[in-house]
Amino acid sequence: MTRRYFHSDNEAGVAPEILAALARANEGMAHSYGADAITTRLTARFCEVFEKQVEVFPLVTGTAANSLAIAQLAPPCGAVYCHVEAHLNTDECGAPEFFADGAKLIGLDGEHARIDAATLDHTLRHAGALDVHECKPSVLSLSQATEHGTVYARGEVTELSRIAKSHGLRVHMDGARFANALVQASCTPAELTWKAGIDMLSFGATKNGAMMAEALVVFDAALAQELARRRKRAGHLLSKMRFVSAQLEAYLHDDLWLRCAKHANAAAQELGAGLARVEGVALLHPVEANEVFVRLPAHIANGLHAAGFGFHRWPRTDDCYRLVTAFDTPHEAVEELLATARELAPAR
Ligand SMILES: Cc1ncc(COP(=O)(O)O)c(C=O)c1O
Repeated sequence: MTRRYFHSDNEAGVAPEILAALARANEGMAHSYGADAITTRLTARFCEVFEKQVEVFPLVTGTAANSLAIAQLAPPCGAVYCHVEAHLNTDECGAPEFFADGAKLIGLDGEHARIDAATLDHTLRHAGALDVHECKPSVLSLSQATEHGTVYARGEVTELSRIAKSHGLRVHMDGARFANALVQASCTPAELTWKAGIDMLSFGATKNGAMMAEALVVFDAALAQELARRRKRAGHLLSKMRFVSAQLEAYLHDDLWLRCAKHANAAAQELGAGLARVEGVALLHPVEANEVFVRLPAHIANGLHAAGFGFHRWPRTDDCYRLVTAFDTPHEAVEELLATARELAPAR
């Protein structure tokens, strides 16, 4: 039976290669708290993938990765700039501020959820004017892919980082959908991160075929020293870490992560292009990763829901909807949704 659900990539299952790796990791005993052989191999693999000596902290949620990164990069009185729609600003229940002992997130504007370079420059040039009354500009956080399913090109990341660094800020990337962004950006993992000025990356895998596996990747060793204790203090040092590391190892093996992301992105491309051709439907953002944002007339939205297609109305809107594809979205599911939307279009 065709899967008819476009709610979220979090609702997808687990890639068979990752399930098999979990079964292998289950054979016998292994050292705990990250002292196991798989976690050791994983760090070496991340160093290869990013062409640099990196420190890797396997975690199980993206919120933990973002929060620990912000806590490490920002002082308690620090200001952290992100897009106003960024997940860490809107959907993490204040966790980054909580873990960062009160640092303040400041939302910036920008079309399609990408921070606008001129806005960042203007903001940072005028920041600090209120002296002790204002938080100290400390961190820029970029979401890659963004909350609206768009992707910063490598040059845009470089330019935003340059502006941030010229004002003494550190730069974090929320890569909950990093693989989806990477295959769109057509460059290397190194080029899209540390070579473009990123200090820490929240590297997501859960949304792209893992069961529950994220990692905080630290490009500057000096920044990693305290993180081990911060992770423990936050309750995120996993005793059976090998099972998270095994997922990430399988994810990076034989380009599985890139293959999964290419599949999801291609399905989203097809869905977006098809919906844009349906009368009354408007595409709200360019489709650059695995999410499609559309304005739907009520009769089409209701008709699709009644036909069993699952997708969410975007919060704080009346008629904007998000459809998400995943590493295993069947081609037929996309075709069926498009055919149903076309049938519904003329009926009012
Ligand atoms: C862009 C982005 N960042 C971070 C997260 C947080 O991930 P988690 O739900 O695992 O905490 C999400 C989850 O939807 C996300 O979409």
